[in-house]
Amino acid sequence: MFETLRDQPADKILMLMQTYKADPRTDKIDLGVGVYKDPTGLTPVMRAVKAAEKRLYETQDTKTYVGLAGDPAFADAMIGLVLDGAVARDRIAAVATPGGTGAIRQALELIRLAAPTATVWLSNPTWPNHPSIIKYLGMKSAEYRYFDEATRGVDFAGLMEDLGHVSTGDVVLLHGCCHNPTGANLSADQWAEVIALLKKRGAVPFVDIAYQGFGDGLDADAQATRMVAAAFDECLIAASCSKNFGIYRERTGLLMAIGKDAAQAKLSQANLNFLNRQNFSFPPDHGARIVTMILTDPALRADWEAELEEVRGTMLGLRKQLADELRRLTNSDRFDFIAHHRGMFSRIGTTPDKVEKMRADNGIYMVSDSRMNIAGLNTATVPILARAIVDAGV
Ligand code: LMR
Repeated sequence: MFETLRDQPADKILMLMQTYKADPRTDKIDLGVGVYKDPTGLTPVMRAVKAAEKRLYETQDTKTYVGLAGDPAFADAMIGLVLDGAVARDRIAAVATPGGTGAIRQALELIRLAAPTATVWLSNPTWPNHPSIIKYLGMKSAEYRYFDEATRGVDFAGLMEDLGHVSTGDVVLLHGCCHNPTGANLSADQWAEVIALLKKRGAVPFVDIAYQGFGDGLDADAQATRMVAAAFDECLIAASCSKNFGIYRERTGLLMAIGKDAAQAKLSQANLNFLNRQNFSFPPDHGARIVTMILTDPALRADWEAELEEVRGTMLGLRKQLADELRRLTNSDRFDFIAHHRGMFSRIGTTPDKVEKMRADNGIYMVSDSRMNIAGLNTATVPILARAIVDAGV
């Protein structure tokens, strides 16, 4: 039977990881996949994670099943981190999932169960796995404009115009913070306008928040998500712990489905448990347990928050250094947007040819749409990148 299979489209981010690995150049620079690297190029295990793992190793006396939704303490801790009381707890159904991708997948499956004909609106551009999963599930999608190629900021007028065509019951996927792949984000006032418009259109918002703590800080980065959650009767939130806890391979995420009341949340909860059972039964527990320990232990939490702030500060410093260097080399402010973008990524806004030129000539790897992972840089590689950007004629 397997001869009937067709090749599947390769994920461009994962493909880039392979090409980078295969490149023998020792001075190559990886700005591809969204992984934080310290100045020595290592993706470290965070201090609080190590401490929690040690404690877990010493105290855990069973690895028996937990429950289809995962440990309720994990859901409570993450709901606290993301929503901080913006919505009554009894309106929230939640399941632990294998990473943020798992949360997105389960959200889409829930939407498909509840409203199979709903259109899911995606920002153009968005994380490539969003449209890929939607297509795989046979769901309908549409795009709304997001990025202004000229300013490298948000095309807010285009966004509002496109979202004005959303129909009642459509789902609108929004990046809670640190937009991937552009790094361009809405201001609080713009969020308020988007919320008012989506309410008027009768849309259901679906927030993907995968970089909380990487932009303007843990609370600031969750503000938009909290505003959305508080404003709508129904909404979905997919939260990832991969980046902000640095536990990428542990696959730790949470899907929240907010309903208009406790009865609706109960029904959503039963459906989410069912979906987990159909897809993988019990969600992974190790990462979720580590996150719960960190969020509920004041000392571990303080240390985690401090280290996350160090990571954020490092990325902001690199942004500024790169913008300054480009300002110096080009004698212009046209790359200042890099310092204004937030999160791990910036789309520098150039053609795949020029991206390819930087790869061939300088061993610099960024995604073909010109998304670069700022966290893949260090103070020594910033000038090399700046020079390559200029030499490629970006
Ligand atoms: C990315 O966008 O690079 C990350 O979210 C990793 C991934 O799975 O694509």
